[in-house]
Amino acid sequence: MAAVKDSLPRRQFDVVVVGAGGAGMRCSLQLAQAGLSVAVLSKVFPTRSHTVAAQGGVSASLGNMSEDNWYWHMYDTVKGSDWLGDQDAIEFMCREAPNAVYELEHFGMPFDRNPDGTIYQRPFGGHTANFGEKPVQRACAAADRTGHAMLHTLYQRNVAARTQFFVEWMALDLLRNDAGDVLGVTALEMETGEIYVLEAKQTVLATGGAGRIWAASTNAFINTGDGLGMAARAGFPLQDMEFWQFHPTGVAGAGVLITEGVRGEGGILLNKDGERFMERYAPTLKDLAPRDFVSRSMDQEIKEGRGCGDGSYVVLKLDHLGAETIQKRLPSIREIAIKFANVDPIKDPIPVVPTIHYQMGGIPTNIYGQVVSVANGHTKAVNGLYAIGECAATSVHGANRLGTNSLLDLIVFGRSAGNHIVQTHPERQHAHEPIPQSAIDFSIDRVNRLETRTSGEKTQDVGNAIRVAMQHHCGVFRTLDLLNKGVDAIESLAPQVESIYFKDKSKVFNTARIEALEVTNMIEVARATTKSAANRLESRGAHALDDHPDRDDVNWLRHTLWFSEGSRLEYKPVQMTPLTVDSFPPKARTF
Ligand code: FUM
Repeated sequence: MAAVKDSLPRRQFDVVVVGAGGAGMRCSLQLAQAGLSVAVLSKVFPTRSHTVAAQGGVSASLGNMSEDNWYWHMYDTVKGSDWLGDQDAIEFMCREAPNAVYELEHFGMPFDRNPDGTIYQRPFGGHTANFGEKPVQRACAAADRTGHAMLHTLYQRNVAARTQFFVEWMALDLLRNDAGDVLGVTALEMETGEIYVLEAKQTVLATGGAGRIWAASTNAFINTGDGLGMAARAGFPLQDMEFWQFHPTGVAGAGVLITEGVRGEGGILLNKDGERFMERYAPTLKDLAPRDFVSRSMDQEIKEGRGCGDGSYVVLKLDHLGAETIQKRLPSIREIAIKFANVDPIKDPIPVVPTIHYQMGGIPTNIYGQVVSVANGHTKAVNGLYAIGECAATSVHGANRLGTNSLLDLIVFGRSAGNHIVQTHPERQHAHEPIPQSAIDFSIDRVNRLETRTSGEKTQDVGNAIRVAMQHHCGVFRTLDLLNKGVDAIESLAPQVESIYFKDKSKVFNTARIEALEVTNMIEVARATTKSAANRLESRGAHALDDHPDRDDVNWLRHTLWFSEGSRLEYKPVQMTPLTVDSFPPKARTF
């Protein structure tokens, strides 16, 4: 049954946070503790958000295992980003990291411990001491379940702070007034099928990534880019969407993540000749080079006929770590390998392939999480809208993220956005501003078109076509020809998304409705990705273009901004000036 536009139920909050992963819950905690009324919407129970799947650790230069400092961390992150990361935001994140981790420790997060009681830290790809000299142990770990420990800690703290959770609710659209300010969202309660208007003085998008636009992905099925779709439909740009990270070690054929922490603990990658091939590609960091490097090296080995088994994968050997270390430090990895690869890593190596894992791009923000828009070449913070976590491009990861910097990003910028909202809240103490009916109509008309259609395309068919096209056209190595064909393939699917229908119109827990709405978000992300990638004529970080194999700082040291309307592109400069220290100028990226 179609929703009636002018009599939708309404609720009012100071802040609506969309998404209950690490970023959303770190932000909501700050807000609820300050006494603001805060609603957190989540498609799933909060502790099932995708943060729960993060395995290896959260980076911070605690120096518990050997000397370390935030400036080395900053250098590694800038170099890891292939100089596309904004250096002000990177400095902010790396400086804040130790405090953010100690705060979690004091919240009760069960980190692994060293014999002296300090937090255990393991090495991770691209994290080094003394500006690239040697690997450093910077990843603070709770076995191989760090995200799980973090999410449960944050959830319990939020419950204590009386955050209001809206469990199994899906946000649909941002609501803006004529000045462009964001005044809340429309949202669907899955249990009843009712659509609500949630009025908010501030809206925070914390919806995570969109890795499910690919066929093979380490991401949860909920990662369909809902916040990105909402932002794109509301006219906001998506930044640097050409940069997607392939995690080197997804279980071959299954996609499930095998943490880089395995290599941090001493695991090594081998080709069919039993050769530790990373020694050839990255002589200093070897298996602990950044992910774009390792994924390309693996792909190269496979392409050149040195893959294992049927030739389509390489193997990750860890039996030499010994049963005790595997059971203590990597218990879930053993379980995953047994269940999904049918091998016990205590005895046998795990077959692995590079698998889509993380989007470096997203909704552009400043270091306070405020969404920034561009008008006439000038950037401006949008009133009432924040984005944090994987759905945001702050941009600390640039063209390639270092492992464990994502959990860090969640807590640093979740907290920063929360603090900014609390500090600026008095300015918005006034009553909620009126929401134009046209904004609500736009959203409800969109849902009603879907709701009332009696024939057309099946959701699964269109969703699968998007996933197959992305997998085929936007791989570890890219060519212009393939990318341009990818643009055409995805654009030709856009009208099919507009004609999706589902047979079952029942209201209560109708997952067919949810999946159809998710595909309307996926298509925006796929359009942004293919178009942005086909227009970046260089190789940088995770964007490796055969036709333009080198980085081109003269022409391409700049961020891409993609706008949904007309699939238009603009560009903006990278922030090369840090907050307080000297800039790290671009140089060759070797490991
Ligand atoms: O390999 C991992 O444990 C993944 C960590 C990350 O993506 O940061």
